[in-house]
Amino acid sequence: MDKSNGRSEIVRYDISFSVPMVHRLRITGDVLGPDFPVLAELLEPGDNDVARVQVWADAGLLEWDADLLRRVERQLARYPQLDLVSPAEVLPGGESVKNDPAIIDHILEAIHRDDLDRRSYIIVIGGGAVLDAVGYAAAIAHRGIRLVRLPTTTLAQADSGVGVKNAVNWFNKKNWKGTFATPWAVINDERLLQGLSDRDFRCGFSEAVKVALLKDAVFFNYLHQHSQDIARRDAEATREALRRSVLLHLDHITRGGDPFETREARPLDFGHWSAHKLEAMTQYEVRHGEAVAIGVAVDVMYSHLRLGFPLQAVKQTWETLQRLHLPITHAMLDDQVIFEGLEEFRQHLGGRLTITLLRDIGRSVDVHEIDLGAMKEAIAAVSEAAAVVAEEEVSAAAMPAPSYSGPGKKLSATDISDGRQ
Ligand SMILES: NC(=O)c1ccc[n+]([C@@H]2O[C@H](COP(=O)([O-])OP(=O)(O)OC[C@H]3O[C@@H](n4cnc5c(N)ncnc54)[C@H](O)[C@@H]3O)[C@@H](O)[C@H]2O)c1
Ligand SMILES: [Zn+2]
Repeated sequence: MDKSNGRSEIVRYDISFSVPMVHRLRITGDVLGPDFPVLAELLEPGDNDVARVQVWADAGLLEWDADLLRRVERQLARYPQLDLVSPAEVLPGGESVKNDPAIIDHILEAIHRDDLDRRSYIIVIGGGAVLDAVGYAAAIAHRGIRLVRLPTTTLAQADSGVGVKNAVNWFNKKNWKGTFATPWAVINDERLLQGLSDRDFRCGFSEAVKVALLKDAVFFNYLHQHSQDIARRDAEATREALRRSVLLHLDHITRGGDPFETREARPLDFGHWSAHKLEAMTQYEVRHGEAVAIGVAVDVMYSHLRLGFPLQAVKQTWETLQRLHLPITHAMLDDQVIFEGLEEFRQHLGGRLTITLLRDIGRSVDVHEIDLGAMKEAIAAVSEAAAVVAEEEVSAAAMPAPSYSGPGKKLSATDISDGRQ
């Protein structure tokens, strides 16, 4: 007590510290087949030289490969040090798994029933929604059980699979309940993507275009040049695009200095303020990857109008997205309600509104205000560009098919429309 003024002595200690973490990413061709050792060696044995393992899979996958669970079980059985503590289980795929508290309880009960501890492993095979739901349960049980993610959508392999978050929907709000938690390992396996519909397959590449625009002009050119190959699921182009995309996301998380999003900016969310709103406005009829394509198409144009982002790069972005058969516009963008997306974006992070935009490819900038007039202009410009392509498609469809177009034929908008779904 300081006798002169009667106040007690106050002591403050502000000690910053960091927690060492390892992010493990593996890229495989068939991890449930010949590449299984890649997974097996990630499962370090604990007490009694045994690694205890539980497996959860997305029902969507089983429609494509009914034998998938048995294959996992057979592979695990070949390793005496790996103990599958109960039969692999299936969860409904898509957003519904994140909406149902009974499913989270079910996963937690299974973790409790099987006596998993912090040295046990939960392997989850599925789309981003199943990864999120199982990841959330794994993160809160015993304050964190080792989670091995096997993402099975292009979106999750290009982006969210290596993310350090999980969440479920609560109070009718998306991702309201969740934690930051680094997965033990992530395995991007090519074969697991085979069962995706063309629509879902193409969705993941809008995130690749987004991260290329933010960080890597060479990768952006690659996507521009190979977008048609990717759209027709060419193995090499797909592999390269997913690999570069996931590495850029991983680099941002591990070296960007803010993995747990404590700052007001969320740089990887370029194009996402309108995307999130559009998903909600369309009752999720527009997929996340499609909404991101639209959001990116609008925000590159806005970046051009307000920050001098080159017009040629705007056009290349639109072209790339369209050749990927992704939409670049939506009728609901004309609705004033879309701008509520800005405020919702601010609320989610707290603090000032912060939107990441572009001065050039690879040169992002955070802005704290959006000029709504310029944004409406950007939206109108994108719809106009999309309408031109649509019109060309209609007239091309009315024309007789050319018999032979000759070598070295230049790309036109009509090429882009082939097989659109
Ligand atoms: N945690 C994060 O950092 C993060 C980041 C971005 C998005 N997300 C979340 O990810 C979710 C979206 O994930 P998504 O886009 O991967 O799709 P999804 O998980 O919603 O899956 C879409 C559909 O595809 C099916 N499916 C999945 N893989 C399949 C396959 N290989 N073959 C056939 N069908 C398959 C699923 O059953 C589902 O019906 C959202 O809930 C979003 O909030 C999380
Ligand atoms: Zn996204």
